[in-house]
Amino acid sequence: MKNIIIIGATSGIGRALALAYLKKGYQVGVTGRRIELLQELVTLFPKTCLYSAFDITQETAIHAFQNLVLKMGSVDLVIVNSGIGNWNPRNEWEIDKNTIETNVTGFARMSMAAFSVFLNQGFGHLVGISSVASYFGYGKAAAYNASKSFVSNYLSGLRHRAILSKKDIFVTDIQPGFITTPLIANKQEVKGAISAERMAEIVIPKLERHPKIIIVPYRWKFAVLLAKILPDSLIQRMS
Ligand SMILES: NC(=O)c1ccc[n+]([C@@H]2O[C@H](COP(=O)([O-])OP(=O)(O)OC[C@H]3O[C@@H](n4cnc5c(N)ncnc54)[C@H](OP(=O)(O)O)[C@@H]3O)[C@@H](O)[C@H]2O)c1
Repeated sequence: MKNIIIIGATSGIGRALALAYLKKGYQVGVTGRRIELLQELVTLFPKTCLYSAFDITQETAIHAFQNLVLKMGSVDLVIVNSGIGNWNPRNEWEIDKNTIETNVTGFARMSMAAFSVFLNQGFGHLVGISSVASYFGYGKAAAYNASKSFVSNYLSGLRHRAILSKKDIFVTDIQPGFITTPLIANKQEVKGAISAERMAEIVIPKLERHPKIIIVPYRWKFAVLLAKILPDSLIQRMS
């Protein structure tokens, strides 16, 4: 039986992944700030689901995460999923600051905490949720896209560190396109989005093979390719 921790499991992608792993019979530690939503998951799977409520923007999150690992005994897979994605049409610093504190500092804080546990144990799989947005700048959400570039680059560095450690540590960067969750609700009409449950179905078997990157849904691979070759002036028109 695998022990899995999902950071940010109260809604959307994290909740869908948590439910899918719980249905497989794994022991799953779920986290997030909304305690009642975490307790709801424990009520559904009282024998195999544990929770710890914490805010990844706070330094105390590291200790809370370590305590959760202690309760579980060890951890095979940590998915750092927590993230926010607000547009910033009026150029407000608070919005970008919150995005950076959550998606950059908070993400690095939790990834580093998981990586340290893996180094001590000698094994583990770290998964971060970046985005296809990591490949280009976007006027409506400059901090969000930049934060996802950080996530992908940071995971790439941790993967190199894992290889140098010569331990059984793996790092995967999941880059979703549009997934129907509260994060994209009330934004522009989104075409071709898939549900978080479908994303979990696609991603879970792939994670068994410890790939470096998973782009999901697959068709977003072509958008990524275009983002790499199109001139910035064309990409700018989408902003
Ligand atoms: N939906 C998409 O189209 C899409 C596309 C690409 C990438 N992504 C990425 O996928 C990840 C999950 O997003 P989602 O779409 O599933 O959105 P969501 O439904 O809004 O879920 C976000 C999760 O992050 C947690 N979270 C946010 N701020 C937190 C904080 N300060 N401390 C602890 N947990 C925090 C939330 O929990 P609490 O609020 O309970 O704390 C929630 O569980 C994000 O990293 C997002 O950038 C989403």
